[in-house]
Amino acid sequence: MIVRTVSAMTRITESASCLQQMQRRTLKASIETGKYILVQRDQIENSSSNKTMKFPSVWLRDNCCCDQCFHQSSKSRRINWDHFDTEVEATDIKVDSNAQQVIIKWSDEHVSRYDLKWLNEREFCDERRQKYLDEFYRPKTKHWAGAEFREITKTFKFQDVMQTDDVLRQWLEALAISGVAIIEDAPLEKSVVRQLADRVGFIRRTTYGEEFIVQSKPGAKNYAYLSEPLPLHTDLPYYEYKPSVNILHCLVQSKSEGGSNLLVDGFHIADRLRYEYPTDFRVLTETLVDWNDIGSEDGRSFHNIWRAPVICLDSDGNYTRINHSIPQRDSHFSVPLHAVLPWYQAYAKFVRLARRDAFAFKTKPGDVLTFNNIRLLHGRTGYDDTEHNVRYIVGAYLDWDIIYSRLRVLKTAQAESVNDSSATGKATT
Ligand code: OGA
Ligand code: ZN
Ligand code: ZN
Repeated sequence: MIVRTVSAMTRITESASCLQQMQRRTLKASIETGKYILVQRDQIENSSSNKTMKFPSVWLRDNCCCDQCFHQSSKSRRINWDHFDTEVEATDIKVDSNAQQVIIKWSDEHVSRYDLKWLNEREFCDERRQKYLDEFYRPKTKHWAGAEFREITKTFKFQDVMQTDDVLRQWLEALAISGVAIIEDAPLEKSVVRQLADRVGFIRRTTYGEEFIVQSKPGAKNYAYLSEPLPLHTDLPYYEYKPSVNILHCLVQSKSEGGSNLLVDGFHIADRLRYEYPTDFRVLTETLVDWNDIGSEDGRSFHNIWRAPVICLDSDGNYTRINHSIPQRDSHFSVPLHAVLPWYQAYAKFVRLARRDAFAFKTKPGDVLTFNNIRLLHGRTGYDDTEHNVRYIVGAYLDWDIIYSRLRVLKTAQAESVNDSSATGKATT
């Protein structure tokens, strides 16, 4: 490692002269071959937390926070990339320990200032990046077997979710981590699903409207609108942009046998296939299936098709989406002949593993079942539907973009209120 030390070009400044400065951290910064900057923070009282952070010059220049390079009110980069020099080098560096800032002069003559806190939050080391990804970008998922359902499922009171930001955060976090959460004691009103969606952001509209009623209907236009058993499935696999989270509010529950919900963690089933039946796993991740839905709603005809594997992976092999629906699988199967039989074998394995793992439970009026439609499979056992024995569920969807955004906003507000109260010595409520 070549570290250019103090010279006309590079100065390492250290200042901790007065008591006030002593209480702060001293700061050191240096240039390593122009292409990298080293920033070292000394915690005076606790020397074990000394650490050196390393930042690429090109990234620092790209992310200069001055008004010329960054538009403050829209929080957006405005640096002119048509002329951006990716070979940019630092030519001078100093620190302001009082302001806890690093000041860098660049080869294009521009001068940038970086807050230590800002740098800390963006450090490139594995630990800090992983923490950001798991805690702020998207909470890390925990996969579960059906037998663990009661243990992993959190329940919240409707009024608490509606009135307390911290409970709203806990609900959304539970959805992100385990993929399911139950909200209890909701009023028996059709508006509940919209109230919850509005609390987070806004409802995701689909072919079936914004709110939809799940009840046994003569001439049903959707397989779910029957009293027959509804096999495990994900909703709307035939959409490229599949709705993310289902909100199912039970207003009236069937008094007959059945009408129970079934839930399975599709990621857990995928984990099992990956390790126990790797060939089937590969087939289910590689074979494109045609999912479809044909019908009409409110006088408008539709014909939806989306081609995607049952288990969708990203480039790191992480699950991005599970697709499964026996009723909504097209008879068109646009794969070469040789791919058909292996896919049927693998899919049967997936379906049976899932069915054996399903956890069944019956919601009661006032319960709102919320779950991740990208990940969980859900179904319903059949029930008797008569004039005196009805079942009435109101449903709606939310999208993950909207949920994750709300979660980050809540977390940031919470972190800021903790910072404010520690600065003023006040307790947060
Ligand atoms: C659906 C569905 C579950 C239920 O409408 O897609 O899965 O409890 N309904 O009726
Ligand atoms: Zn700038
Ligand atoms: Zn469904």
